[in-house]
Amino acid sequence: MQPRTDRRRQWWLPVTAALVLVATGCASDAPQDALQPEGEWSRKTHDLWTLTFTIAIVVFVLVMGALVFAMIRFRRRSDDDRPKQNHGNTKLELTWTIIPALVLAAIAVPTVGTIFDLADDPVDGALAVEVVGHQFWWEYRYYEDEYTGNPDDVVFRTANELVIPEDREVALYVTSVDVIHSFWTPRLAGKQDAVPGRTVLLKIRADDPGQRFMGQCAEYCALSHANMRLITETMTEGDFQTWWDHQLEQVDPAAIPDDAQAGYDLFISPDVGCATCHTIGGIEQAAGVVGPNLTHLQTRQTFAGSLFELTPENLHAWVQNAPGQKPGSYMPAFNGSNENYADLSSEEVDQLVAFLMTLE
Ligand code: CUA
Repeated sequence: MQPRTDRRRQWWLPVTAALVLVATGCASDAPQDALQPEGEWSRKTHDLWTLTFTIAIVVFVLVMGALVFAMIRFRRRSDDDRPKQNHGNTKLELTWTIIPALVLAAIAVPTVGTIFDLADDPVDGALAVEVVGHQFWWEYRYYEDEYTGNPDDVVFRTANELVIPEDREVALYVTSVDVIHSFWTPRLAGKQDAVPGRTVLLKIRADDPGQRFMGQCAEYCALSHANMRLITETMTEGDFQTWWDHQLEQVDPAAIPDDAQAGYDLFISPDVGCATCHTIGGIEQAAGVVGPNLTHLQTRQTFAGSLFELTPENLHAWVQNAPGQKPGSYMPAFNGSNENYADLSSEEVDQLVAFLMTLE
């Protein structure tokens, strides 16, 4: 009896493991589900996948059906039962070579067509945005008309949350300043590698306004690769125009509120050095481009590669010890643990946060 129990145990383990594995693929509310496309370009890719997958299922059922049929129909019926021995069959071999070749040729037609569509120049009136990967956050440089690659033609820069109008083609020009990243918003488009020294077109178009699509870096890029997220927010054309105009507004250093003045002084102080890395439009000292543009920080809901919700508490923890919050971050710690940077008291961090909270 013992060996029988063992054999029974042997089969349910792999079957359970397989079922668990399949079940992990199920989610009712998956924000990064490429199988729920929400725009023209992701739908094109999805349609191609559906077609290929359907053909694959048909082939699978036919081949497995024939296999199971042969196993049962021609099973060994007695100890001396031996099948008739065959050596080669030209007709059969031609058949199973020609049929797959035809299937592949048929799939190649829509595949190549889709590849050319995706690579085609954007339509007239498309919004042009340069997407720049940094360790570990995304920068967006908006262009007035078309992408030129000339920094002088950049109208404004923002970070992590890409804002686009509904139902308008958006031409993303993807590149990187350090290592290879990969820009990926599964419900809007496929992945596009962000390679230093190269700029590659990725087109997206979202159906509806008022949505926030999750995305993330999809190419291992060092310690905080998993913390390099992004969000694409869609708006009506009217709201988008309002947002655009707002991004052009500058901060007036003479109009800093009293309770943010101490934080402002710390921000521009060379001893602290925030302004060396960050730009705040309108503040002459703050023109750094190493870190995200903070001019309109409060128009975003997240920060640090969309990893944290933009709250005073989270900003406080971040300013105090960014590398502790996000390993490998270029933003240094200001808690005394890094001797090259100021050791700010909790009150001073609060003052900085109070100033950051005014950047609307
Ligand atoms: Cu950037 Cu992974």
